[in-house]
Amino acid sequence: MAVIPIRVFPEPVLRQKAKRVRTIDGSIQKLIDDMIETMHAVPGRVGLAAPQVGVSLRVIVIGVPEEEDIILVNPEIVQRTGERLVDEGCLSIPGYIGEIKRAVSVKVKGRNRNGKEIRITANDLLAQALEHEIEHLNGVLYIDYLESMDKLHKIEPEEAQL
Ligand code: NI
Repeated sequence: MAVIPIRVFPEPVLRQKAKRVRTIDGSIQKLIDDMIETMHAVPGRVGLAAPQVGVSLRVIVIGVPEEEDIILVNPEIVQRTGERLVDEGCLSIPGYIGEIKRAVSVKVKGRNRNGKEIRITANDLLAQALEHEIEHLNGVLYIDYLESMDKLHKIEPEEAQL
């Protein structure tokens, strides 16, 4: 396993549409393990998407405090419910947060590390993290929802980042 440097906006890989994973083989499992280790190495982290470590493939990991890590390959949101305003940050846009709208609850499907199909129903921070990381796979960043970059606020590094 290895900690991989996190790519920072405006690196082009963050704007690419990531490719679907065809087979969850050893190289994908190594990518997953490296992503988990990289995520855990960052204080305040909540999730990480493969493009953030420079790999344009549809893989995300989520590490909400007090909950088991979630690994999703080829994740898709199948349902969004409700709407709420949240402060959101991103490991690829360090030191800032912005206020955007997110779903209250989402249903997501994807495959786990062993290729088994899994479905997750999530609320609040976990739902926010899933939406945020899946958007990374489409080259979308939360700042895209702000009227302008002037709406960003500076934060301390240890605050939650997605
Ligand atoms: Ni992010």
